[in-house]
Amino acid sequence: MILSRRALLKLGVLGGALALMPLAPSIATYTADRPAPSPRIPRFVLPLAVPPVLRPVRSTATTDYYEVTQREARVEILPGLPTTIWGYNGLSPGPTFRVRRGRKVVVKQTNLLPDGVVVHQHGGVTPPESDGYPLDLIPPGGSRTYVYPNEHRAATLWYHDHAMDQTGFHNYMGLAGFYIVEDEIDDRLPLPKGAYDVPLLLQDRRFAADGSLVFAPLGHIAVDGDVVLVNGVPWPRFEVANRKYRFRVLNGSNSTIFRLALGSGQPLTVIGTDGGLLPAPVQTPEIRLAMAERVEVVVDFSAYPIGSRVVLENRDGEGQLGQIMRFDVVRQEADDSEVPETLRPTERLSEAMAVRTREFVFGPRPTLDANPPVEFVINGQTFDPNRIDARPRLGDVEIWRFRCATALGLGGRMDHPVHIHLVSFQILDRDGAKPAPYEAGWKDTVLVPFDQEVRVIMRFQGYRGKYIMHCHNLEHEDMAMMTNFEVV
Ligand code: C2O
Ligand code: CU
Ligand code: CU
Repeated sequence: MILSRRALLKLGVLGGALALMPLAPSIATYTADRPAPSPRIPRFVLPLAVPPVLRPVRSTATTDYYEVTQREARVEILPGLPTTIWGYNGLSPGPTFRVRRGRKVVVKQTNLLPDGVVVHQHGGVTPPESDGYPLDLIPPGGSRTYVYPNEHRAATLWYHDHAMDQTGFHNYMGLAGFYIVEDEIDDRLPLPKGAYDVPLLLQDRRFAADGSLVFAPLGHIAVDGDVVLVNGVPWPRFEVANRKYRFRVLNGSNSTIFRLALGSGQPLTVIGTDGGLLPAPVQTPEIRLAMAERVEVVVDFSAYPIGSRVVLENRDGEGQLGQIMRFDVVRQEADDSEVPETLRPTERLSEAMAVRTREFVFGPRPTLDANPPVEFVINGQTFDPNRIDARPRLGDVEIWRFRCATALGLGGRMDHPVHIHLVSFQILDRDGAKPAPYEAGWKDTVLVPFDQEVRVIMRFQGYRGKYIMHCHNLEHEDMAMMTNFEVV
């Protein structure tokens, strides 16, 4: 059993004198100090990988049955060096689920890892017993069956580990994958399809000289890598035709926010957010994408002559973190796809529909009990599985207001991507102003910057029961920046 982050802090291991702590020999290194840089890797050399789509083991008229085994695997991420990862079916990213709205999916997850795990379908409308509550652990050697009714409109969801206190480490080791819901409305649109509909999972990582992963939570404030992986490949190149592509971009990093832009200056055409397609496409020069957020963009490479190279940049990244991947326009192809002027009708939730407003303040709180001496709290409290902090009624529309606390210079400038399970919400405003047009769609995660108040509105629908809301900076989440709500 690997010690929990909170246990390590109380022992004074993190941020203390012991700089390097090997975990379950040679899997990875846990370090409190700023670690050495990763081995140097050439950029834009390795081809982009696209995770395989998982096939059901059997299907009935209403239901598809899948089986997944979580296990350790040795893979080559850096050229010529072995890396041990934890993967769904030994893969990172895990295999992609592509499912139909309204068809039930049953997934049997078997855990061959040395640690207890939990699977959460992020963004899904899932009954509480299958939502992946952090304490519903699958023990090593055990298995659990999750049932997903898939009532969600077509959207790019994802699945990832959610084990209590260990979510950051488990995700860092590789436990994440795409879960794409499709429906007739999406089918009917002339958007790029098939091989031209490509999921991109962005993650930053750090590696030791021998290729093993280095997990450096830096006093549990943030894990920052110095290598950008796209679908598990460092700074890949992707050979494209001179036509349109649909990219489903997910920021699967533990703590790193990206600001996406094309190096050519071509604007990005945003067609969707966390919860599916926007009512209409939106052009934007750049997109801020916090942890767990998704954005769907269409890029038209017919704007470039064959032979062109277009870098997807991260305008928030310094040095080599400023680049993500490169598109090499290598061939001529016909293109019958289009971005229509209207995409998907969307119900706008209005303030007048809300029956109440709740307020949540995210912030560090000083404590003498940990090193560094801060606790991550919501409304002044750390997570307690037995405490319910909100009881919305099924069917009610509520407004939730989020802001960050500033505490005596202790991480007062920290941003928190807030994620609510079960529901999709709309952003009402940021400091009273309308959100960026590309944020106007259905969301399940919203970045709350340290100096901004954000209001979201949502209808509680789907299921009654206990769910969680938490910060999706996984280091904050593992430090108990999480709260229960119960739909009653
Ligand atoms: Cu993506 Cu509660 O998680
Ligand atoms: Cu979630
Ligand atoms: Cu946070």
